[in-house]
Amino acid sequence: MDHTLFIRHLYGLFWKGEGEREKRAAGIRRPFSSPEKDMGKDVIVACDFNSAEKTFAFLDRFKERKPFVKIGMELYYAEGPAIVRELKRRGHRIFLDLKLHDIPNTVKKAMAVLSQLDVDICNLHAAGTREMMEAALEGLTRPDGTRPLLIAVTMLTSTDQTSMERDLLIRQPLDRVVMHYALTARDAGLDGVVCSPLEAERVHEVCGAGFLTVTPGVRFAEGDKGDQKRVATPAMAKKIGSDYIVVGRPITAAEDPVAAYERCLQDFIG
Ligand code: C5P
Repeated sequence: MDHTLFIRHLYGLFWKGEGEREKRAAGIRRPFSSPEKDMGKDVIVACDFNSAEKTFAFLDRFKERKPFVKIGMELYYAEGPAIVRELKRRGHRIFLDLKLHDIPNTVKKAMAVLSQLDVDICNLHAAGTREMMEAALEGLTRPDGTRPLLIAVTMLTSTDQTSMERDLLIRQPLDRVVMHYALTARDAGLDGVVCSPLEAERVHEVCGAGFLTVTPGVRFAEGDKGDQKRVATPAMAKKIGSDYIVVGRPITAAEDPVAAYERCLQDFIG
């Protein structure tokens, strides 16, 4: 049995529904189309600022370059959908990182609203269950069948084995929990997951090479980890096979953010 099959077999021993998963892996069509999926590897800059003014001052330093940006809760709650429209108008691709997690009907209706903003990627928490993820996809899909990519947060990169066991009462190896969440997201029809770069290779082995891995928790070797626990350098993330790295403070807090961004691009793609 080759390595990939062995891992799939191992996970199959723990979780039900492997028959369905095998069918999907064999190419059974997903219920929703995602034409935006043919995106390449890239560095996504987390614009974790509390105002549009600070965000524009930061992005203006990049001049004609238009980095792929992530708008998270802080900026979205401060500025609302106007910030998304303006960054789109300026030519940025956008990952709207609002991590929805609520009852299926509420998430479905919220996703229908977010879909109109026409961002590239939206996300939610896989912990909201498969039913919630399916409802989210339904809400996100426009009448013409198009939609942004939808990815699921598995286990936050600030969570480690100790905090997961102590605070969430999940007494399983963390990587097994991440893989289970990833498989559930894939079976719900999602396009990928947010996970640690350290988990990207296993996610691809278990869920298929085309299942996107978007990975925060990226630090330069000499950098400060901050609240992140499961971290890797951009070069390690490249080696492990992340599709996108999400980088915040190593770029936003750098003395020269453009140089830090270039370094990430060089190490991850170049
Ligand atoms: O500053 P730093 O590089 O740690 O920023 C990482 C970004 O990725 C933050 O905006 C954080 O909210 C986000 N994120 C994360 N872990 C996840 C999902 C998103 O760190 N699992």
